[in-house]
Amino acid sequence: MKNICVIGSGYVGLVTGTCFADLGNQVTLVDIDQGKIERLKKGELPIYEPGLEELVERNVRASRLFFTTSYEDGLENAEFVFICVGTPSGVDGEADLKYVRSAAETIAQKMEHSIIIVNKSTVPVGTGDWTADIVKRAQPSPIDFAVVSCPEFLREGSAITDFLNPDRNVFGSTNREAAEKVADLYSPLKAETVITDLRTAEMIKYASNAFLATRISFINEMSIICERMGADVTEVARGMGFDKRIGPHFLQAGVGYGGSCFPKDVKALAYMAQTHGMHPQLLNAVMEINDFQRKHIMLKIRDVLGNLDGKTLGVLGLAFKENTDDIRESPALTVVRLLMNQGATVKAYDPVAMPNTAKEVEGIKMCNDPYEVAIDADGLIVMTPWNEFKQLDMQRVKDSMADAIVIDGRNMYSPARMKELGFTYRGVGRGYNGEGILAENQEIVSEPSAD
Ligand SMILES: NC(=O)c1ccc[n+]([C@@H]2O[C@H](COP(=O)([O-])OP(=O)(O)OC[C@H]3O[C@@H](n4cnc5c(N)ncnc54)[C@H](O)[C@@H]3O)[C@@H](O)[C@H]2O)c1
Repeated sequence: MKNICVIGSGYVGLVTGTCFADLGNQVTLVDIDQGKIERLKKGELPIYEPGLEELVERNVRASRLFFTTSYEDGLENAEFVFICVGTPSGVDGEADLKYVRSAAETIAQKMEHSIIIVNKSTVPVGTGDWTADIVKRAQPSPIDFAVVSCPEFLREGSAITDFLNPDRNVFGSTNREAAEKVADLYSPLKAETVITDLRTAEMIKYASNAFLATRISFINEMSIICERMGADVTEVARGMGFDKRIGPHFLQAGVGYGGSCFPKDVKALAYMAQTHGMHPQLLNAVMEINDFQRKHIMLKIRDVLGNLDGKTLGVLGLAFKENTDDIRESPALTVVRLLMNQGATVKAYDPVAMPNTAKEVEGIKMCNDPYEVAIDADGLIVMTPWNEFKQLDMQRVKDSMADAIVIDGRNMYSPARMKELGFTYRGVGRGYNGEGILAENQEIVSEPSAD
């Protein structure tokens, strides 16, 4: 049993802290957002993450998990303090480190004994050294500490499983003993372990996210080519994926990646390269393709529906991917805004992301289920591949629509079946214009969406 303090109770901090508590440790989560802490104390979760509520409740009941706004309380007996605050994009695409700076300064001011500071936030290469300097400068009197980089690789929507069954854990420090102590906290998970230096650990996180984003942009570019050449990108991806050198993951063509990580991390890595005199051509292309993918959905909508002024469009899914309420950089929100700018009325449904969206987008009409979205809609656009959209009663959907048009941004449906039902259907990269190929008898083998 170790005593751990976690700074920041967002997607990463709350999952990390709760999972460490579940492994038998004593964990205190500290956040500057008083409202969030009050809600957590009442047992209300500020985010939607499958399985998390039950895990939080169990560990609070067992007196292993605590919430506070006080750094003093959190740090009191802690041997480790994990920094899990946000690192959003700054104006030029650089990672904005103001929350990390503030967390490091407050730790320095409040710590009363030697501690290992673990950085879990995704931060530019060199931030570990910078954090150590900040702490040294902000300490009222010198107390020993070490900085360890331990980047997080969990995915929203499967965060608990990812934390408890990681492909690997990475620990970087100039102090090997400190890195090994942090690695030891993860030893019950029996995952592959990489212990390296600080800067390399920080770079592993960026390189991993940039590579995954590259795979998504690669298959999206293939989807555009498939649409000109009459090939089906879902079959192309399947045929590629059996090759062990390639593998099947992160090869689903769609609306492009979104969320709180890939967009900002690819941008931040490109910014790092540029500001050090390099020209990150591949990263720039990855971002350009991703940006175009959202516009491509709009082109399809315009192609089928013409002028959107006065039309009613239904949107299925608002979260950036399924199983989360996170709408940060969600392609769905980009499309919703573009539709509204072009004079369309937008009705939408998402199982969990409607409250977050309503705070961001004015004038969108939220519905109780996908069938309500379909009523009198001139077209339906699938933006998030939630399970509950997979087996809708499409006859019912069609009967209630003003015009039977479906733009399927996530390739959820069979083009042949949609055609049979009388829909005008456009998928992504599925034959000419995404309309589907003639000899279609295969099912898409779906995995959770990649982004
Ligand atoms: N969300 C993901 O799936 C994911 C996955 C891997 C890595 N990451 C990285 O982890 C970091 C955190 O991401 P997130 O999605 O959990 O962010 P988030 O925005 O959901 O949560 C950050 C939390 O930190 C709190 N905070 C900010 N400044 C603070 C301070 N000085 N003291 C205490 N609390 C403070 C905020 O109030 C907020 O609750 C980011 O660097 C992100 O890139 C995120």
